[in-house]
Parts: sequence; C-alpha cells; structure tokens
Amino acid sequence: MATATFAKMPSGPPKEDTNGPLLAGEHTLPASWWTSEKIFDLEKRAIFYKSWMYTTHASRFQKAGDYYSYTVAGINFFIIKSKVDGKLKAFHNVCRHRAYPVVRKEKGSSTILGCKYHGWSYNSDGKLNKAPHFDNVEGFVKEENSLFPIKTHTTEQGLVFVNFNSDESENFISFDKWFEGLNVELNEFDFNDYEYHMSYELDGQFNWKTLMDGYQECYHCPTAHPGLSTAFKMETYKVVPKSRYCRHYAEIVREEVEIEEDNKDPDEESSWFGFGKKKAAPVEKKVEKKVNPGGEFNGLWIYLFPSNGVNCYSPAWYSIRVLPLSATHTILQYDIYTKKGLDEESKKEFVDFLQLVELEDFNLCQLTQKNLNEGIYSSGYLHPQKERGVLYYQGVVRDMVKAHFEKETKAGRQLNPAFVGRNSKNQSIQELEAICDSVECGSGSDKSLDW
Ligand code: FES
Ligand SMILES: [Fe+2]
Repeated sequence: MATATFAKMPSGPPKEDTNGPLLAGEHTLPASWWTSEKIFDLEKRAIFYKSWMYTTHASRFQKAGDYYSYTVAGINFFIIKSKVDGKLKAFHNVCRHRAYPVVRKEKGSSTILGCKYHGWSYNSDGKLNKAPHFDNVEGFVKEENSLFPIKTHTTEQGLVFVNFNSDESENFISFDKWFEGLNVELNEFDFNDYEYHMSYELDGQFNWKTLMDGYQECYHCPTAHPGLSTAFKMETYKVVPKSRYCRHYAEIVREEVEIEEDNKDPDEESSWFGFGKKKAAPVEKKVEKKVNPGGEFNGLWIYLFPSNGVNCYSPAWYSIRVLPLSATHTILQYDIYTKKGLDEESKKEFVDFLQLVELEDFNLCQLTQKNLNEGIYSSGYLHPQKERGVLYYQGVVRDMVKAHFEKETKAGRQLNPAFVGRNSKNQSIQELEAICDSVECGSGSDKSLDW
C-alpha cells in the first residue's frame, strides 16, 4: 500500500515535564450518573440537545435527493442533499401535519419526500410541496408548514455535524466557536483520498459514558489491548484536551525493516503501523535498514464531545458514534472509509484489526456497567495525566448538566433546547400546554420537574 499524502505532517503533542511530581487527580463522577434514567434525560436536554455532533461524511451523498436517516438520543432526523443549492440539510423526521415520520428507510434518494399517512409531500429543501385538499382551506399557509430544520455544519473536509438546539439567539454557540481550532487539525489528513467502505454496529448494555471513559484514555491499553503494543509505544500515549475535543497522540512503532537494496517499492508487503503481517525476510543477501513506510503518519485521532470520535490512519479512517438509547443501553456505530484504490486484503486487515480492538473495549464496558448497576461502587480516583482525557470530558459533562439543572430549577420546569413545536400563533395551544405543565403531562419543553 502507498503512504498517504497530506496537507502537512501532523503536529506533535505539546512537550510536558513528566519527571516532576504529578498534580492531584480527581474522582470520577458518581456511578449513579451511569445508571439513572432521570440523569440520562437531563443529559439529553443539557448535552445532546445543545452540542454539535458528528454524523457522517459528505462523500456519501452523491446526488440531489440522497438521504440517510438517524436517531440520536431519541431524536429522529434525516440528512438530505438539497436540489435547491446542493448543500446537506438536516430535518426532524416529523411530518408537520400529524407527526408521522416522513422518511422510513435508513437511506434512499428522492427529491420529493411523501408522507405515507395522508400524502403530504416535501421537497429536498424541507419545503411543503403538496398537502392534498388543503388548497382552499382558510388560514392554511403552505410556507408555515415546512419540515423543522436542524442546524448543520459541513467542514471543509466533508465532516457533517448537526446541532438540535433550536435557539436562534446570540447565545447559540456556532460550530467554529464550539470546536475552536478543530479545522486546522483536520487539515492534517486528506479526507478526499478516502471512500466509504462499510459500517457496523454493536449493541451495548451500558451507559454512553462507560464507552467514552475507555475511549478517552490508553491507561488500559497494556492490560486490555495486548495487540496494540505492536502498533505504537503505549507509554507515549497522550490525550490533549482542546475546545470540546481532544487530540490523542502516540509515537508509532517505527519498525526497521530489512529490504533489498534495489527494492522496487518499499511499500510493498509492509504492514501499516506494524499491525497484521510482518514483511517477509529478504531473499537477497545485500540488505539495508529502512524505516517502515507504513508508519510515517502518526495518525489523527480525535475525540469529539460528547460521544463521537474520528480516527485516521494511512490505509483508512473511521468514525465512531456512541448513540445512547437509555441510561444503560447504547448503540456503537462505526463507519469505515478506506484509501481510494486500496487492495481488498489491506481493507480486510484494517477492519479485522479495528473490530478486534473495539470488541475488547466493548467487553470492558459490558462488565464495568454490570458493577456500576450493582450500587456498590460510587467513584474512583483518576490519574491526572494518564486519565486526563476522562477528567476533561467528565468535567464538561458535569458543567453542562449542572448549568442546565440550575436553569431548570430557576424556571421551575424542564427546558428542552431541541423543542421546535410550539405554535406561537395559536393562543389556545399555549393555554392547553400550560394546563399540561401544571399536571406534568409532558409536552416536550414544558414538563414540570419531577425529580
Ligand atoms: S401525518 Fe403526514 S400527511 Fe398526515
Ligand atoms: Fe480501548
């Protein structure tokens, strides 16, 4: 396989003095935050309905009308390539008539989307196209019945993010501010040189944070991932918190390989990062030492708050999306993109390696969560350096949850940032919603605090 070309070689981790005494660590958040459905509901409002979340790569949308549907933290939506301006747009998968899902397939292609309940249809820009028999209905305004849009951002590298927050005020944090500096780091990898290969999912009986805890450190790698030691020097693994994302660094094993002096292509037969097969011994006597070309790229591994990651290697990159269904049920979704022209064997080698490591992590989570559920353990001490990424992301979780909880306490009701359904024109609806508030019947944004 050939080595990838990059805009520039990756920056190294910042130099740190690791010889002196370490600063004090801190404890994890309490275990109840990994098991309580009430806390999970609060996390949805405080975190998942306010954050910019990685979803997919733009290269998967070839032509106008191509769409994919998703469910993230209980919200169903789809992303479609608009025929109007060619941009990727996200909409809640909720018909404006009586709330039936407009899109019912995982993926498809159509520039007109018809609701299969009463036949309303929408164009690829979310605008209501037709509402049968409504033409002469007094007061009905087509333009006021477009699909509810969801904020999207596609980076210049093609990474597509959504944000469910319906806040249109100046308090809303733009993508560039949310992930300040991310764009520069993403430019270290040539995403254009890769194409979609495959996806797979794992169904986990654990909290979303159980997976993120393991993802955000490699303290567990020597014990839990013995195979990884052939790929990089685990003692050099470092997680550096940035602006709601973390860059993971590690020195790769720059394996010296013996090659023939007149070797035709040093890439041939070499494995990437030392994973998988080793280079065969040379047949000629005349050899020289060369650095393994598969190991020249240190990788671009990025954790994206709250529950996503993008990991780029030479032969492939993949995304992981950690999709919570409840406090103790989480889907792990992996999309793999391989280097254009990469041979099938190398693709398989990458997928096999990835699946092995991810399964090792998955099994750690399954058993950890069982103990968290038991109610014996509450909190543990974290290493200030080796678990710095865990400290960082749990700190962001804590701060966002606390801030939102205080807001709700002050307001005396639940506040759902994703809620878009309030019909401000209809006074009677507001009146009826208010009744609901007082009896806690739960209408999205105004359900009273019941905990
Ligand atoms: S719910 Fe979609 S047309 Fe009635
Ligand atoms: Fe792991």
